[in-house]
Amino acid sequence: MKRDDLLDPTIPGNKLRKLKYNLEQARTEGKSTILTFGGAFSNHISAIASAGARHGFATIGIIRGEELTQSYLQNPTLSQAAECGMQLEFINRADYRNKSEKTFLGKLEQRFGDFYLLPEGGTNSLAVKGCEEILSGDDFSFDYICCAVGTGGTLAGIINSSETHHKIIGFSSLKGTFDISGIAKFVDKHNWKIISDYHFGGYGKVTNELVDYINCFYNKNKIPLDPVYTGKMMFGIEDLIRNGYFPKGSRILAIHTGGLQGIAGMNQKLKTKNLHIIEHG
Ligand SMILES: Cc1ncc(COP(=O)(O)O)c(C=O)c1O
Repeated sequence: MKRDDLLDPTIPGNKLRKLKYNLEQARTEGKSTILTFGGAFSNHISAIASAGARHGFATIGIIRGEELTQSYLQNPTLSQAAECGMQLEFINRADYRNKSEKTFLGKLEQRFGDFYLLPEGGTNSLAVKGCEEILSGDDFSFDYICCAVGTGGTLAGIINSSETHHKIIGFSSLKGTFDISGIAKFVDKHNWKIISDYHFGGYGKVTNELVDYINCFYNKNKIPLDPVYTGKMMFGIEDLIRNGYFPKGSRILAIHTGGLQGIAGMNQKLKTKNLHIIEHG
C-alpha cells in the first residue's frame, strides 16, 4: 500500500496532489479567494478549507443541503472547515445540481466577487497533472495499481504516469455503471478499468460488513481506512484476490488516498442508525 494518506495531516492523499498546481495557478491569476462545492462530509471541502488557511487564500464552500444551516457546527467536517475560516453557504439540492452552469456561477460571482473556481471533488486538468506525481520510484515495479474512484481525476493521473505493463484498476465508490467519459477526456492509454462491484449501496453508504472489514483491517495491519473510498477499494482487492482475479504471483499496489477525516461524521450517522461503528479515526 502506498500511504499517500500520510502526505499531510490536514491535506492528505489525493487532495495535496490535486491542489498543488491549482494553488500555483490561483496565485498566478492573482486570485485571493477559492470557491468550491461539496457535501456535508466532503474530504475535498475539509482539505480546501485547510489549504486556504495555510496558504493565505480566503475560501468559500458551497454546501449541498440547506438543512445544515442550523446544525453544521455539530458536523465534524463542516465545523473544522469553518474553524479554518471557510465561509459556508448552504444551498438546496436542486440549486446544487446547477453547480457547473454558467448562469449559476455568474450569480455566485455577483454575490462573492472574483474567485478561483474548483469543481466538486477538485478534478480538473491541473488536478490530474498533480496526480501524475503519485507513482514514484519502486511503485513502477508493480503489475496492478489500484485506486478508489469518485470523479476519476486521481485515477486519470495514475493512468497518465503508468507504463504499458501496468494494469490500473479503479474501484468506484458510486452505485451503477461508472461514466468513464470523465476519465477518458484526460487520458489516452487503455491499460485501465473500473470495477463497480464494491459500492456497498452507493456513494457514502456503508454496511456492517464493510465497517467490520475496516475494523479488522486496522487490527491486523494498523492501517486506518476510510469508509467512503479506501475501505471499499481494499475490500474489493481482497475479494478479487480470493476469487482468483489476479494471476498467481501478481504484485498489487493499492494507493491510500486519505479520507480519514470523514470517519467521525460517518460514525455519528452510524450511531443514530444503531449500526456498527469504525473503531479508529
Ligand atoms: C479519500 C479519497 N479517495 C479517493 C477519492 C477519489 O478521487 P477522484 O474524485 O479523483 O476519483 C476521493 C475523492 O476525491 C477521496 O476523498
